[in-house]
Amino acid sequence: MTTSATAPVATALPPIGLGTWPLVGAEATKSVLSGIEAGYRLIDTAAIYGNEDAVGVALAQSGVPREDLFVTTKLRGNDQVSGDIRGALEQSLQRLGLEQLDMFMIHWPLPRIDRYVATFEAMRACRDAGLVRYVGVSNFLGHHLRRLVDETGEAPAVNQIQMDPSIARIPVRSANDELGVFTQSWSPLGRGDVLDDAVVGAISHRIGCTAAQVVLAWHIEQGVVPVARSANPARQAENLASLDVRLTAEDIEALNSLDRGESAARDVEAEEHF
Ligand SMILES: NC(=O)c1ccc[n+]([C@@H]2O[C@H](COP(=O)([O-])OP(=O)(O)OC[C@H]3O[C@@H](n4cnc5c(N)ncnc54)[C@H](OP(=O)(O)O)[C@@H]3O)[C@@H](O)[C@H]2O)c1
Repeated sequence: MTTSATAPVATALPPIGLGTWPLVGAEATKSVLSGIEAGYRLIDTAAIYGNEDAVGVALAQSGVPREDLFVTTKLRGNDQVSGDIRGALEQSLQRLGLEQLDMFMIHWPLPRIDRYVATFEAMRACRDAGLVRYVGVSNFLGHHLRRLVDETGEAPAVNQIQMDPSIARIPVRSANDELGVFTQSWSPLGRGDVLDDAVVGAISHRIGCTAAQVVLAWHIEQGVVPVARSANPARQAENLASLDVRLTAEDIEALNSLDRGESAARDVEAEEHF
C-alpha cells in the first residue's frame, strides 16, 4: 500500500526523530526496536550508514502499522555521480523491506560534482511514481536551496542540517524559512558536547529536567524537528520526554547566546561524502 503526499510535510512529520548513525547490525536493530517501543515514529537512516537492512528488521518486528512510521533515508554521493537515482532508491527500499519511503533526501549537495539539481529532478520523478512521499535535502546552504528553486520551480520539503545551541545555523534556517523548507537538525545534542555547558545546566536545574531535554526542547520550541540518537533505552525515553519540557523566552535567548557561528559547522562546500 502506498500513500500519497497530500499532507504538508509539517503536519506529516513526527516532532522528534531517532537517529541511527553509526549503529549497524544487531545493535541498530535493537536500538530502533526499543526506540519505536518508547514511542519514536520518525526513524532516520541513510544508504551510507550501512544499516538500512538492520533498520528494516526492526521496522518489521516492531508490530507498528507501516502508516504510523515515518522513515527517512538519504542518497549517497556515489549515486549522485552515477545518476541512477531510481535504482539507488529501489535498493534502499529493498534493504528496508518497504514499498514506499516517507522521505528521500540528497545526503550532501557535493557542489564540486554539481549534480544536485539533476538529482533533485530524478527524486521528484520517483515521488511522481509513488516510490516516495516527500523529497528532501540535507546539508544544503541557502544558495544551494535557491538554485534548486530557481531551476526546478520547487523547494525541497525538508533540509536536515547540523544544528545545536552552539552551532545555531541562523543563515541556513533563515533561508529554509524564506523558501518554505522545513528544518530538521542532526547532531542536535552536539554529540553530547553541549550537555556540559553551564547555561544548559542552570536551565535544567531550574526546570528539574536533564541537560539533553533542555537542548532538545530548544530545537522543538523553535519549530525544528531534532533527530537525536541514543542506543540506550532510558536515554531514548528521556529524549522523547523533552516534548513536555517548556522553556521561557529568556531560556531560549540564553541558549541562543551559545552560538559560535557558521564557521563552527561542518564545511559543506568542502565536504567529500561519497
Ligand atoms: N544528514 C547528515 O549529514 C547527518 C550527519 C550526522 C548525523 N545524522 C543523523 O543524526 C543523528 C543524530 O546525530 P548524532 O548521532 O551525530 O549526534 P547526537 O544525537 O547529537 O548525539 C548522540 C550522542 O549523544 C548521546 N546521548 C543521547 N541522548 C543522551 C542523553 N539523554 N544524555 C546524555 N547523552 C546522550 C549518545 O550516547 P548514547 O547512545 O550512549 O545514549 C551519543 O553519544 C544520527 O544518528 C544520524 O541519524 C545525519
